[in-house]
Amino acid sequence: MKSTVIALAGKGGVGKTSISAAIIRELVKMFPNKRILAIDADPAIGLATALGITNVGQTIDDIRKSITEAGEEDKTKKKAIELLGEARFQLLNAMIETQGFAFLAVGRPEAAGCYCSINSYLKQVISAVSEEFDFVVIDGEAGIEQINRRVMEKVTHLILVTDPSRKGTNVIKVIKQVADELTMYSKIGVIVNRYNDSRIDEYLNLGKLPILAKIPDDKELALTDVMGKSVLDLDDDSLLIKGVDEALKNLDIKGGISK
Ligand SMILES: Nc1ncnc2c1ncn2[C@@H]1O[C@H](COP(=O)(O)OP(=O)(O)OP(=O)(O)O)[C@@H](O)[C@H]1O
Ligand SMILES: [Mg+2]
Repeated sequence: MKSTVIALAGKGGVGKTSISAAIIRELVKMFPNKRILAIDADPAIGLATALGITNVGQTIDDIRKSITEAGEEDKTKKKAIELLGEARFQLLNAMIETQGFAFLAVGRPEAAGCYCSINSYLKQVISAVSEEFDFVVIDGEAGIEQINRRVMEKVTHLILVTDPSRKGTNVIKVIKQVADELTMYSKIGVIVNRYNDSRIDEYLNLGKLPILAKIPDDKELALTDVMGKSVLDLDDDSLLIKGVDEALKNLDIKGGISK
């Protein structure tokens, strides 16, 4: 099977990380024998917590640093690929010990400012490791930067997340436009998160973008979050999990079939 690379994008704070974690949880449940990788592509870090992971291990930034420290910047690409080979091996091994999925974080570069170099590594990592996994779920950084920098080029399924705000929907419309040019997605759709009022429907104005699911405010998620528990602890019938199941079904990722 060709790997399915699912990325989540949207404005800050709309629910990308919670939804990414719920997708991982549901993929593990639906496909216990498939190789599944979760990538936290947000330097602000959050997916690990949402997945209840305390030991993040080697990050992409660590790989980048070890290359820079070796003072071989001219050989950067070659070295990066060798290191990725090693990381790939470790990831596959680590998977057996975790709860049915592997985890990789982009890490948090110490130098303030531009994440360009880390993003270019991230792009290489996505191409290199996705071959080893059946499913890759990427929790993206807020906004448009990673789409613009072609980090998400290899994505097959692009999930745009918004809350019912105009700002949120404007951001996903811009992301869609840029993604049309710079990514190779075959499926795209919107999850409207924190949806509580059907009166907003006529104003959502998403053009031709299909809505994959509408997820209401989930009190159980809020409680889980404040208690420091993970999305893995949610009940199967929680609103977040039900919404994510519906979105996966609308993307044709359900019941053992992934197109
Ligand atoms: N449907 C929901 N019901 C209740 N709380 C929610 C819902 N979706 C998200 N939240 C809460 O909103 C907060 C932000 O969610 P989350 O971290 O998933 O967003 P994000 O898009 O990843 O944010 P960022 O851009 O900062 O990474 C979290 O505290 C999360 O628990
Ligand atoms: Mg997040």
